[in-house]
Amino acid sequence: MCGIIGYVGREEAAPILLDGLSRMEYRGYDSAGIAVRSEDAGLQVRKSRGRLQVLSDMVHGGADLKGTLGIGHTRWATHGEPNDINAHPHVSENGKIALVHNGIIENYLELKEHLIKQGVKFQSDTDSEVVAQLLEFHYHECGNMLEAVGRCLRRIEGSYAFGIICADYPNALIAARKDSPLILGYGKDGNFIASDVTAIIKHTRDVVYMDDGEIAVVTADHIDVFDDEMIPVEKTHSHVDWDVSSAEKGGYPHFMLKEIFEQPEAIRKTISPRIRDGRVVLDDLHLSEEYVQGLSRIFIVACGSSYHVGMVSKYTWEKLLRRPVEVCLASEFRYGEPLVDEKSLVIVISQSGETLDTMAAMREAKRLGGRTLAIVNVVGSSIAREADDVLYTWAGPEIAVATTKAYSTQLALMDLVGLYLGDLLGTVSSQEYQAVIEAMGRLPDQMQQVLDHVETIQYHACQYFNHDSIFFIGRNLDYAMGLEGSLKLKEISYIHSEAYASGELKHGTISLIEPGTLVVALGTYAPLFDKAMSNVVEVKARGAEVLAITTERFQEKMEKTADSTVVVPDTHAIVQPSLGVVPLQLFAYYVALQRGCDIDKPRNLAKSVTVE
Ligand code: AGP
Repeated sequence: MCGIIGYVGREEAAPILLDGLSRMEYRGYDSAGIAVRSEDAGLQVRKSRGRLQVLSDMVHGGADLKGTLGIGHTRWATHGEPNDINAHPHVSENGKIALVHNGIIENYLELKEHLIKQGVKFQSDTDSEVVAQLLEFHYHECGNMLEAVGRCLRRIEGSYAFGIICADYPNALIAARKDSPLILGYGKDGNFIASDVTAIIKHTRDVVYMDDGEIAVVTADHIDVFDDEMIPVEKTHSHVDWDVSSAEKGGYPHFMLKEIFEQPEAIRKTISPRIRDGRVVLDDLHLSEEYVQGLSRIFIVACGSSYHVGMVSKYTWEKLLRRPVEVCLASEFRYGEPLVDEKSLVIVISQSGETLDTMAAMREAKRLGGRTLAIVNVVGSSIAREADDVLYTWAGPEIAVATTKAYSTQLALMDLVGLYLGDLLGTVSSQEYQAVIEAMGRLPDQMQQVLDHVETIQYHACQYFNHDSIFFIGRNLDYAMGLEGSLKLKEISYIHSEAYASGELKHGTISLIEPGTLVVALGTYAPLFDKAMSNVVEVKARGAEVLAITTERFQEKMEKTADSTVVVPDTHAIVQPSLGVVPLQLFAYYVALQRGCDIDKPRNLAKSVTVE
């Protein structure tokens, strides 16, 4: 979603801003812009619809815009179509104030009407321009930019991360945040603001995470942070220890493929420190045995692929915990009057830790007295900081919009947490406990085995990429895994696809199966393999072409019925989806490649969805 960068220092700002924006391209955007202040030219603003390259070419890589203070933005349209005018930065009517904004100003129409009555003329359809104009209004009123920002923030409702520069303040940029991420970066030759650490990691690893309601005044040598009453705040610095190369393609044609291949290592990093002497050790989880025994409800709340992890975990946790587990879409949960109380554990899963719906759902759960545990990838993200407990998936930065390694590490971590809770509850036998632990230990190598046979999937993708509609069917854990396989395919190849519980097909959807329809049949869940096979036979009888994913144990049986079969190693049923999902990710990738899609930046999608 939208990306923000700001710089003030001793270097030329424009090339730094463009480079920072390029590192956030993965987030998804439709237009981009920068504003740079110089002594001679005042505020210079350039913006353009389309790829960042268009903007970069327009300003010759930044060489055209002189000045050491500036802000930049990549926009993902919410209010107003993606065009040059609606792109950020937005400039106030007198041309003195430029602003970039992430989030949504909910009362913008009311404020806009008020300003129009004062004679203000608007250029764009955005909610963000309203704030630029409102700032000018208050600046005119009080003559002090910081005070004007404070007055403005008291009037707006909604979510925001702002980067603001003013022609009258040559040495400072102002930042403010509420419900939209913003970090402050301390560099050698200047300081930064950014919505995403990847934008500035090339320049600094010394960062401060802004909290809701805070305002920062950033100069080349100093950063002051204030709370919403303008009282100075002492902030804790964090060191970003990401390897810069993880945000680069490292020889792979796409981030997605690189991240698929990084999965064995990512899983290893996530699980190894948490398995000691054959036991799950979760040092960061502070749930007493008494609390777990007294739990009345367990919710898993998330969006998209993270929700699909929840769907898999519902099956595995109910087996391990012998307790009902409710999986909810965060956007539904937050407004659905959920039955959360003091005895409820609410697990929120989020790669980015910034998904607004998930964050709002978590806050709702806390408001209702529930205890929250976040499974998050991005260290220091908003969800991680607000949850009662947080367990990080150590997947490293995930750049491709379509998640792969974050999904896998979430799944592996959820298996460990399930095992841990099952052990506390006494609902897992010691044999099963040990069997799952052993299977988890084998997982990275077995995953590598699947990746070593990538050419099989490439072959099937070449065979099937021309289909317009693809069904994923399976039972139990295979059904949950199919949800993710279907989403991956939709996201990046734009092929219509649905995932169905095999047994449900005959209640309606089977009417869509006709000669030539491609069905991806998932037959890795051993206890229901024979049932799943009968559904494969059903779709075959109606002319479907079947691409099956199964395990070595069932290969022979499956090959007798399916048109094509991909085989993954056998493992414990609970761990099996972690292996089964890999061919589905690769299939989506190679199908999208055959169709010439923009794999890392699929249309209309954003990496981190920070609006409702
Ligand atoms: C997955 O490929 C998607 N990009 C999307 O569904 C994603 O999983 C969802 O938006 C949730 O994101 P989060 O994990 O960062 O909260």
